[in-house]
Amino acid sequence: MTDFEQEQLNYTKHIQTDALLSSQIQISPHPEEMLFVIIHQVFELWFKQLIHDTGRAVDLLEKDDLAQATWLIQRMARILGVADTQLGVLEMLSAADFQEFRPYLESSSGLQSRQFRDFEVLGGLAETAGEPYARWAESLWPGIIASHPKTLHSAFTAVVKRSGRPILEIYQNRWGHFQLFSLYEACIEMDRSLASWRHNHIQMVKRMIGGATQGTGGTFVEKYLEPTLKYRFFPELWDVRHELTTAAGGVVSDQ
Ligand code: HEM
Repeated sequence: MTDFEQEQLNYTKHIQTDALLSSQIQISPHPEEMLFVIIHQVFELWFKQLIHDTGRAVDLLEKDDLAQATWLIQRMARILGVADTQLGVLEMLSAADFQEFRPYLESSSGLQSRQFRDFEVLGGLAETAGEPYARWAESLWPGIIASHPKTLHSAFTAVVKRSGRPILEIYQNRWGHFQLFSLYEACIEMDRSLASWRHNHIQMVKRMIGGATQGTGGTFVEKYLEPTLKYRFFPELWDVRHELTTAAGGVVSDQ
């Protein structure tokens, strides 16, 4: 065997290309279905990485290794940004082509992505999005909340508490508390990137099947997906913007 053949074999083994490339199984004869399958698989791989890194970020925050946690959270925001951009590829699956194979999907929907829900719960949505979200997640996947006893949001609030300073003060004296400030900005960027993905997913869905349409998962796009736009892992960091505004004499509604 030549050196090159040996290297090829190593790559094939390490990346598991045989398993990976034999996993694109079409359920219709439509040539555009391949793109639909591949893009979902790409997202599932990114979800896997996000779950992996969120768990690591929780451990790092608990150890007060803020520098490394900040780096990882910044990278997660980038991954979410890439996922967001990738929706643009799917927008070039035409709505008419999609309808030609959509009936084959039956009840299959992204709603059933266990990894997406794990990522949301691990991020802390069961704490920050309120009781209805927690009930909904549990109804889909019983035991999912208990399976993530440590969340990114709770690890973050523990860091805030240990710092002994309100978030507002960190922002006002940001260069004096640069590490905390960087962490908080990485966290809000992660939230923003996920919110951006949610928004662009909804636009893409509306372009594909229309906003008043029932999804293959049984929900109605405008009624189910649009309210998810308000979900945040770090609501405290969004609220502090109000505090900064009022501290500078600006007006914020009571809501
Ligand atoms: C033709 C493309 C797509 C259409 C028409 C579509 C449509 C929908 C609809 C209608 C829902 C609401 C649940 C339902 O009733 O089905 C949904 C949820 C969801 N979709 Fe998509 N989707 C598409 C592509 C994608 C892609 C590429 C991903 C990436 C994994 C994805 C991930 C999700 C997730 C995670 C949810 C659950 C969101 C939540 O519960 O907040 N979708 N999708």
